[in-house]
Amino acid sequence: MDQDLIRLVNKLQDTFNNLGGELDMPQLIVVGSQSAGKSSVLETIVGRDFLPRGQGIVTRRPLVLQLIHTPEAEGSSATFREWGQFLHLDKRFTDFNEIRREIEQETFRVAGQNKGISKLPISLRIYSPDVLDLTLVDLPGLTKIPVGDQPSDIERQIRNLVLDYISRPNSVILAVSPANVDLANSESLKLARSVDAQGRRTIGVLTKLDLMDAGTNALDVLTGRVYPLKLGFIGVVNRSQQDIISEKPMTDALESETEFFRNHSAYRNIAHKNGTKYLAKSLNQVLINHIRDKLPDMKARLNTLMGQAQQELNSFGDAAVFGDKNQQGALILRLMTQFARDFVSSIEGTKVDIS
Ligand code: GDP
Ligand code: NA
Ligand code: MG
Repeated sequence: MDQDLIRLVNKLQDTFNNLGGELDMPQLIVVGSQSAGKSSVLETIVGRDFLPRGQGIVTRRPLVLQLIHTPEAEGSSATFREWGQFLHLDKRFTDFNEIRREIEQETFRVAGQNKGISKLPISLRIYSPDVLDLTLVDLPGLTKIPVGDQPSDIERQIRNLVLDYISRPNSVILAVSPANVDLANSESLKLARSVDAQGRRTIGVLTKLDLMDAGTNALDVLTGRVYPLKLGFIGVVNRSQQDIISEKPMTDALESETEFFRNHSAYRNIAHKNGTKYLAKSLNQVLINHIRDKLPDMKARLNTLMGQAQQELNSFGDAAVFGDKNQQGALILRLMTQFARDFVSSIEGTKVDIS
C-alpha cells in the first residue's frame, strides 16, 4: 500500500506537469560541501554505478533523479530489468556507464568545460525492480573559493541554488557531512538549519567514517548526542577514490560497509541503524510520512480541480465524443478527472489499480 501510494503520487505529479500545472511534492535533496560524498551516497541508494563522482567539483548541475520501482518481469533478459531515461533525450539507456557519460556530456553542454555551474537541472528516471520509489536531487557542492570559469560570487550562487531546493517546506534534506571534518564546520547542517530550524525534515548523513583519525570515532554524533536532529544521523562508508579507480563493484562495497560497522568496536552495537541499506529504508519511511502529512491538503486541491475539469468536460458536450478539434482536450480532462477520482478514493482507503 505504501509503495502504491508513492507511485500514485509520482503519476499524479506527471499528470499535472503534462497539463502545465504544478504539484508541490516532497523530494529528497542532497546537500553538502564539495567532495563530502553526496553523489556517492545517491549512487549507493540507487544500487548502481551511474553518477559522475570524484575529487574536486564534479556535479555542476542539479540532477533530479526519479527512481521508479518496476515489478520483476517473468523471463525478461537481465539487460532490460532496469533502464534509465532522460527528459532531454528520447532514448532508453540500459548501460549505466552510458548514463554516466550522458550526464557528463549534458553537464559540459550547459555548464561549459571549465568548472562552471548551471542551475538548469538534468532530469533522469531510473526504472528498476531493485529500487524503492524515491525522487532525489543531487546538487553541486557548497564551495567558498571560485575556480575555473566560476564567477567571483560562486559561494552565494551555489548557496542560493541549494536554498531554492531545500527551502520548499516539503523537501526532505539529506545533509551530508564527512566524518573526518569537525561537525561544527558542517556547511550542510548550517544551511539545513536555516530552513529547518527544528530539524524536522533533515536527515544527517555522516560519510567517510573509514577516514577518521585512528583512535577517534563518531559514536556521539551517530547517537544524536552532538547535534539534535529529529530524524537522526546515519553513518555510511562509500567507495574511496581508490575503489572508484579500481572499479570496485557496488555489491562488494556494500558488503565491506556492512563488515565495517559489524567489526568496529565503537559501532558494533549500532550497526543495524547505520549503513546504506538502512539509509535507503529510512528515506522511504520519511517520504511516506511526509506524503501522509500532505494528504488532506492535496485532497482539497484535487477536489477543486475535479470540479473544474468536470465543468469543462460538460461544456464540450457531444463534440468530445465525435472527432472534432476539442477531442484531445476533452480526453485529457476526462482522464485527469478519472485520475483525480482514483486518487481521492485511494486516500480514503479504497484499493485502486494504478498500473
Ligand atoms: P560530492 O562532491 O559530495 O558529490 O562527493 P563524491 O561522491 O564525488 O565523492 C568525493 C570523493 O570522496 C570521491 O573520491 C569518493 O570516492 C570519496 N568518498 C566519498 N565518500 C567516501 C567514504 O565514505 N569513504 C571514503 N574513503 N571515500 C569517500
Ligand atoms: Na566531488
Ligand atoms: Mg557530486
